[in-house]
Amino acid sequence: PLIPVVLCGGSGTRLWPLSRDTYPKQFLPLLGEETLLQQTMQRLRKIDGMGAPLLVCNESSRFIAAEQLREIGITDANILLEPMRRNTAPAIAVAALQAMAHGDDPILMVLPSDHVIKNQATFSAAVNIAKQAAEEGKLVTFGISPLGPETGYGYIRAGTASAGQAQPVLEFVEKPDRATAEKYLASGNYFWNSGMFVFRASRYLEELSRFHPEIVAACQNALALAKNDLDFIRLDSASYIASPDKAIDYAVMERTEYACVVPLDAGWSDIGSWTAVWEAAAKNADNNATHGDVILQDCDNCLVHGTTRLVSAIGLRDIVIVETADAVLVMHKDHAQNIKQLVEKLSTTQ
Ligand code: GDD
Ligand code: MG
Repeated sequence: PLIPVVLCGGSGTRLWPLSRDTYPKQFLPLLGEETLLQQTMQRLRKIDGMGAPLLVCNESSRFIAAEQLREIGITDANILLEPMRRNTAPAIAVAALQAMAHGDDPILMVLPSDHVIKNQATFSAAVNIAKQAAEEGKLVTFGISPLGPETGYGYIRAGTASAGQAQPVLEFVEKPDRATAEKYLASGNYFWNSGMFVFRASRYLEELSRFHPEIVAACQNALALAKNDLDFIRLDSASYIASPDKAIDYAVMERTEYACVVPLDAGWSDIGSWTAVWEAAAKNADNNATHGDVILQDCDNCLVHGTTRLVSAIGLRDIVIVETADAVLVMHKDHAQNIKQLVEKLSTTQ
């Protein structure tokens, strides 16, 4: 089977004030009734041949994660708990080691818990192509046609392949600077990396061992000394902290010769900003997306997310309003990327 490895460790500060360190965006119902984590799990359920999922999340999120799985009737998941954040290379390594613990060497489908994919059928088809390539020893990514010179993504230049096959990766560049991203976009030859990966557990660990043996060693120790309780596997803190903080993109994908890419045109979004939430959301005739108790008059292209009170607005265009119990954000959509600075200001003044 294909083992889903679901990463739930991010913090998502760009969706402040809803998303907080203690309650990051994957656990929020940003689009519809179910949370992003629950939507991710439902998407996996619809793909043939999926095995019992492995979640990797922070110790402090364990009850939220377990409860959200229980709510949608997922009872066979194992949850690996990280004592601290060490980024995606080690988070995926502990999952790969755990997946191999009983002598198996399954194909892993690694995916973030906070993305949106609108077209299930297209996604499922792409996963099947990726699985075949993974069985041949490839480290497979999914390529998104870029929409702009974003600097927060990995960029992939691919070689050719016959239809329905994964394409070899000629170049993988994680988070290029603005000028480079513009050049890539203009060339028309690059995909964005979606941040989802499919590979055989052993192939990932072999490549990670080649480039960063100290990460694999720390993860092996953290799992060997882990404490199991209920469905939780609590990694050993002193071992895990010894791992360098590294993303898979820098640690492996930029360097490996086994990388492949499957193009994915399925309405993917990583919901990296309030504007992205608006884009992915269902909208009314005036292009407003609302959540909660909201009344609008003469407004268009707005996103209004209420959680505890009635929110009303008149005569607004391109505005985001997010209401929570202790904070309210009112922002022009064009400024959605600047929210990190605002949050930094908050943490130094309060
Ligand atoms: N368990 C766990 N532990 N999960 C983590 C950790 C960690 O320490 N760090 C990050 N994650 C989770 C996040 O919650 C997110 O779901 C996913 O792993 C990716 O981490 P991000 O921090 O969001 O990465 P990024 O957005 O900067 O870049 C990645 O995703 C882009 C697409 O959204 C890269 O893969 C880029 O190449 C890619 O374009
Ligand atoms: Mg991200």
